[in-house]
Amino acid sequence: MQSTTVDLNAKIPNNVGLADDPKLLRALEKWLPRYLEWWHDMGPTDFEDKPVFLRTAVSVSTDGWAHYDHVRMPDYRWGIFLNPREEESEIRCGDDAGKPAWHEIPGEHRNALRRIIVTQADTEPASVEQQRMLGHMAPSLYDLRNLFQVNVEEGRHLWAMVYLLHKYFGRDGRDEADELLERRSGDVDKPRILGAFNQPCDHWLSFFAFTMFTDRDGKYQLAALAQSGFDPLARTTEFMLTEEAHHLFVGETGLDRIIKRSAELEQIDPNGDIRNQGGIDFDLIQRTINYWFTYSLDLFGGEISSNAADFFAAGLKGRYREDRLDEHRALGQEYRLNVVDGGKLTERDVPLRNAMNEVLRDSYVKDCERALRKWNRTLEAAGSKTRLTLPSRRFHRHQGIYTDHFFNPEGQLITADQWEANKHRWVLTPADNDYLLSIMKPVYEPGKFANWIAAPTRGIDGQPLDFEYVKLHD
Ligand SMILES: [Fe+2]
Ligand SMILES: [Fe+2]
Repeated sequence: MQSTTVDLNAKIPNNVGLADDPKLLRALEKWLPRYLEWWHDMGPTDFEDKPVFLRTAVSVSTDGWAHYDHVRMPDYRWGIFLNPREEESEIRCGDDAGKPAWHEIPGEHRNALRRIIVTQADTEPASVEQQRMLGHMAPSLYDLRNLFQVNVEEGRHLWAMVYLLHKYFGRDGRDEADELLERRSGDVDKPRILGAFNQPCDHWLSFFAFTMFTDRDGKYQLAALAQSGFDPLARTTEFMLTEEAHHLFVGETGLDRIIKRSAELEQIDPNGDIRNQGGIDFDLIQRTINYWFTYSLDLFGGEISSNAADFFAAGLKGRYREDRLDEHRALGQEYRLNVVDGGKLTERDVPLRNAMNEVLRDSYVKDCERALRKWNRTLEAAGSKTRLTLPSRRFHRHQGIYTDHFFNPEGQLITADQWEANKHRWVLTPADNDYLLSIMKPVYEPGKFANWIAAPTRGIDGQPLDFEYVKLHD
């Protein structure tokens, strides 16, 4: 098994020894034109012939793994990379923790692994579809480039998962790989698998919230899979995480820049009216946080889950940074959950293994709280009295034990009538979307930024802010 040398000249760049596996290579080369057709139909509209300053993975070593250059998106080198490992891999959690990891799929885990991989894979093209119109209202060339960078890397993540399906799942895997190109985000007949990936991402406030909150779910799912006892999955997802960090950066700093600009506009306006200055008011930003944070919480799955328990017991999926924990069996321990019982909020202990989705959600929520603290420091520094918050994890849920109840953002039980009367104050509304679309006109002049967002602190790969990140006129 080759694992560190990257074959960059191959039609499909890779470090998985594709050249030595002609059958697999042929199958993937057959999938390639279908993928490109999907990209053409469902990827970013109208920018296919524009050179974009993109980074491409060219190595799997920790330093210098990426190369930056102007590339047209359809010519992007989508490759298949997995992280090298020095030591022999071990199963990291569950009943068999400490035993050698699997290099082939154990028959008894085949269905579960297929489901895990397909579910992860489906999110990658879905997000590209959700974001396909955003180039037409980009606030700057810098942001336009970041959007396209995220898009091509989601495309590469699809490649990473399709490689696993083709290599380890035979005929079933090839069928799954084809279906990944047939489902469509938001389609009534053939929707994407998970809820958040069927929600429209109409404008850049949603794009930044999506990359902040929904890509961050992706980070935690990938991190849990990077602990898998199925070694190829663990090492593939580990490498995906290096790219994912940029997507999270785009989202977190994008929201930070909007918040900073809104605080400036609040100071400029004699009445502190941000909208009067063409900016995005803080209530609207809060509703956007509430909307995307809660849809992203749903992605972690049910609070009490026998599937989650089985995946952990089998060593298929670990906790966040499982390898750094003291014990890896999670037996004889309980997790205390808030549940609704007899119309009241109360507590209940469940076996820890059954609460593994909630344990992962805890790690995610903590990370989101950190970002909120950072944004609130931005508000403080800009002299604004506003503070943004994360809603309770019970609020506005569509999956899990809170789905059939109504909660306010503080997490208190409310009635259906109270929800109806207040929801327009709590989550993104059609009127919000209309307003945002009305102010989001494209800014394509190098170094210029839309009025509703502050400039970033620095450019990409050492380039200045007025660099031509996307060449719209050749
Ligand atoms: Fe991804
Ligand atoms: Fe991502």
